[in-house]
Amino acid sequence: MLYGASGYTGRLIAEEAVRRGHRPVLAGRNREKLAPLAERLGLELVVAGLDDVRGLVSSLEGLPLVLHAAGPFVRTSEPMVQACLAAGAHYLDITGEIPVFESTFRHDAEARARGITLMSGVGFDVVPTDCLARYVAERVPGAHELDLAISLGQASAGTAKSALEHLPAGGRVRRGGALQPWPMGKGLRRVRFADAERTVAPIPWGDLVTAWHTTGIPNITTYMALPRAAARVIRFTYPLLKRVLAVDAVRQGAERLIEARVQGPNETARSEHRSHVWAEARAADGRRAQAWLELPEGYAFTALAAVRAVEQVLAHERQGALTPAQAFGADFVLSVEGCQRLDVLPG
Ligand SMILES: NC(=O)c1ccc[n+]([C@@H]2O[C@H](COP(=O)([O-])OP(=O)(O)OC[C@H]3O[C@@H](n4cnc5c(N)ncnc54)[C@H](OP(=O)(O)O)[C@@H]3O)[C@@H](O)[C@H]2O)c1
Repeated sequence: MLYGASGYTGRLIAEEAVRRGHRPVLAGRNREKLAPLAERLGLELVVAGLDDVRGLVSSLEGLPLVLHAAGPFVRTSEPMVQACLAAGAHYLDITGEIPVFESTFRHDAEARARGITLMSGVGFDVVPTDCLARYVAERVPGAHELDLAISLGQASAGTAKSALEHLPAGGRVRRGGALQPWPMGKGLRRVRFADAERTVAPIPWGDLVTAWHTTGIPNITTYMALPRAAARVIRFTYPLLKRVLAVDAVRQGAERLIEARVQGPNETARSEHRSHVWAEARAADGRRAQAWLELPEGYAFTALAAVRAVEQVLAHERQGALTPAQAFGADFVLSVEGCQRLDVLPG
């Protein structure tokens, strides 16, 4: 079952699944939005709200797995995890939200007991970074520091709304094994990606949870490439922004504005843009390893990677809550079309 199939990313995943020869059941809460896609792809359709876990469980009868693409996941993940545990179906999602990763790992024992896989983050956040984190960590046994940086293109409305949801929680880093607050916009640095050097700022990316599970490295910072001016604006306006967004009416107004104005990257942008990831692991004695990934555009990558993750889970059933790189290894990202890993940069 692909839940949230009518969203921007859900539709891309549905199309990729069909291209790979799969026949997912398309699901969501709104029949009118799902029907045209189900008709165009010739797929079965199920309408079920997340406020009705019993209804979800019965709609999962006979289905081995749910790929959950309806976010913000902090609002949608828990009922679907409960339904999957009750139905004995594997659960995968495309979240990038820190509290959701933490919640998924809290269900580890139940998932093992039920014999199912729970895997959050099978999209751009966190497949490439998680795989590259594992790759560099394996080259520096006993590493105590891990830096990850991403360079991405345009965001969809769903991603913008999910980011808005978590903005008031502020920045985060992992230090000494624990998540700690980090002032938004502080800590700018330059990172050399495979195509160019860019300014990056620490952001609370999902790897602060997943890379910790995958590598055990206790000090992790996740960065995103941003124009230097944008990072400065965030730093100086964040305290005010945080107070303003705490007002429900303002946040809901901002969500409506995003829905009306933000469109995900179009087909040309998805096929032409390239994304980049850099990772470095360091040990206290000076040993270090870095590596780079060059990848398709973020949403195109998400559709490709999510379907590959489903195929992997169905082919080699595993039990418990796992990160993509824990379950599939550091090279999993290389099985996704158009992805290349570099140990040294040309020139
Ligand atoms: N990890 C990654 O790299 C990655 C990549 C892409 C997207 N994402 C995440 O995936 C999510 C979806 O993104 P998108 O671009 O597809 O957004 P979108 O176009 O806004 O679609 C959101 C989908 O979720 C459904 N939905 C939202 N709240 C729901 C609820 N309470 N109950 C049932 N369905 C609900 C919507 O259904 P309705 O149409 O009925 O409202 C719609 O189908 C976002 O959280 C985004 O951050 C992550």
